[in-house]
Amino acid sequence: MNLALTWGGFPAIASAFPMKEQIGSIETDALAHIAAATTERGLDDARVAVLGKKGSLTLASAGIKDVPKEDKAAVGQLLNAARAAISAALDAKQAALREIADRAALAGIDPTLPARALPLGALHPLTQIRDQAIGILRRMGFVLADGPEIEDEFHCFDALNTPADHPARNEKDTFYFDSGKLLRTHTSSVQIRSMEGQAPPIRIIAPGSAYRRDEIDATHLSVFNQLEGLAVGSDVSLPDLKGTLEYFFRELFGTTTEVRFRPHFFPFTEPSFEIDVKLQIKGQAPRWIEVAGCGMVDPAVFDAINTSRKDRAYDPQTTTGFAFGMGLDRLAMIRWGIKDIRLLIENDVRFLRQFA
Ligand code: PHE
Repeated sequence: MNLALTWGGFPAIASAFPMKEQIGSIETDALAHIAAATTERGLDDARVAVLGKKGSLTLASAGIKDVPKEDKAAVGQLLNAARAAISAALDAKQAALREIADRAALAGIDPTLPARALPLGALHPLTQIRDQAIGILRRMGFVLADGPEIEDEFHCFDALNTPADHPARNEKDTFYFDSGKLLRTHTSSVQIRSMEGQAPPIRIIAPGSAYRRDEIDATHLSVFNQLEGLAVGSDVSLPDLKGTLEYFFRELFGTTTEVRFRPHFFPFTEPSFEIDVKLQIKGQAPRWIEVAGCGMVDPAVFDAINTSRKDRAYDPQTTTGFAFGMGLDRLAMIRWGIKDIRLLIENDVRFLRQFA
């Protein structure tokens, strides 16, 4: 039955007024709770109690369906106004509480102070010496080359004219895999890979790791770092080799550094030399120190390359070249007077900080 009809001409007044009072008291109540809230949590509770799904204003709004048609608009406006007033009070209080919380969090802190500096990293001494060596050689026209650390015997030994019974191929000195592959014992394998992939002229350098089954001590690790070089062309001569490496070591250690070439033997170069530089390591008397191996590329290496390439791009009659290899760890130790190679891999900041 329709109540409005039953109540004749006055039902609107009769039902709208209690609703108006109800809305008024909900609003007063809500504003009081909001004013009393001292935490954001407490304020949230107040919000839910009034505007939540079962909140007082939400429930009261549901009553509008029972308000006579002609009063619905007025009551609706009252509800909206109350909701707006309560929401505004909630927002204002929320901002006020947040500001108080922020201020408390910053108590005793001066946010205008400059930030504490983060400790900057620095390049490892090995990286420094490697980059410097690369820089010098690049200025002389060498380009970077690379090759795998897991090598086969052909690239590490056979093509480098190293016979099967050579001690370097010994199981005792080399890490072999069951597959027959091995961890390269020197970066000279990159000489082979570069010549296989490229006809002369060629001028490459290859920094990288090499592996040997050495007893670990102050001057030996089972993994160390080398820098290989190779220059091949139609008129590359021994004076080119000497000039290049003398210049290199004088750039690295100082322009007055004495450099000497001492005859030696490597299977893949002929003639071969070891290079000594006369240096004064920190706290020691000046002396000759061995820093590299080098020589003119042995024609047997060119023969192996031609066989592998299936052409005559490296004709030993018309092709010459020089190669060199040096230990970067050793160069770093000499440069900085480092007495134990293990310091280079231990990553002890107390040690590394000295090179920053
Ligand atoms: N591969 C040699 C070594 O590891 C160094 C070397 C490189 C010598 C190139 C001559 C030419 O000892």
